[in-house]
Amino acid sequence: MALLELDNISKSYKTGTVTTTVLKDLCFSVEKGELVAVMGKSGCGKTTLLNILAGVDYPDSGRYVFNGKDVVIKKAADGISFRRNRIGVILQHFALINDFTVYENIELGLWETNDTKSERRKKVDEVMDRLGILNLKNQYPDKLSGGEKQRVAIGRAIVCNPMLVLADEPTGSLDNETEKEIISIIRDLNKKSEMTFIIVTHDEEVAASCNRRIVLQKL
Ligand SMILES: Nc1ncnc2c1ncn2[C@@H]1O[C@H](COP(=O)(O)OP(=O)(O)OP(=O)(O)O)[C@@H](O)[C@H]1O
Ligand SMILES: [Mg+2]
Repeated sequence: MALLELDNISKSYKTGTVTTTVLKDLCFSVEKGELVAVMGKSGCGKTTLLNILAGVDYPDSGRYVFNGKDVVIKKAADGISFRRNRIGVILQHFALINDFTVYENIELGLWETNDTKSERRKKVDEVMDRLGILNLKNQYPDKLSGGEKQRVAIGRAIVCNPMLVLADEPTGSLDNETEKEIISIIRDLNKKSEMTFIIVTHDEEVAASCNRRIVLQKL
């Protein structure tokens, strides 16, 4: 069954009198459990697409169906309730909170659940163990390497067991060896869980590690 379907999605941005069309009549679907790469030239709309999928932004026209239901975002609060425990996000520059420990950063991924403190502890510990960062539990982000930071960010994205994980150039700031580690973690998570991944990347090796690629054209 399709986890999500985009049907003729179009999106333009208006700056002053200039209108730039970024996505035009885009159609595709992603099945549950897929690991998909999104590629395309800089400025072709990859981040715009992820923002629409995450309910951060909304299309001008077209339909977005997630898990059998139309996604209708009219205000920021609609996006928040749509994302809640459904969608995890991983960004190129990690977006960790420097005043929070590794544990606390990952725990942030549970802020919209009703979990008790002990349930949260169990979930965060499990995720840290799975990502090989239990030993960094009380460390602060500025003491971590790029690869370690990205593991923490992955932990925060997956700790609520979302259906979909969206990653925008997750290895864009990492060296080649660390990139391989991170992509192998993502592949492993995808294989051993029900989580579907959509990964924006410029990197041929990362795309080759995915099961399918969607290439956006610059309009
Ligand atoms: N909020 C916005 N307001 C106006 N224009 C925007 C906005 N967001 C994106 N754009 C424009 O839309 C186009 C697509 O941007 P987007 O960030 O989606 O590209 P991208 O494919 O992710 O590029 P990159 O590979 O460089 O990250 C660009 O021309 C960008 O300037
Ligand atoms: Mg981008």
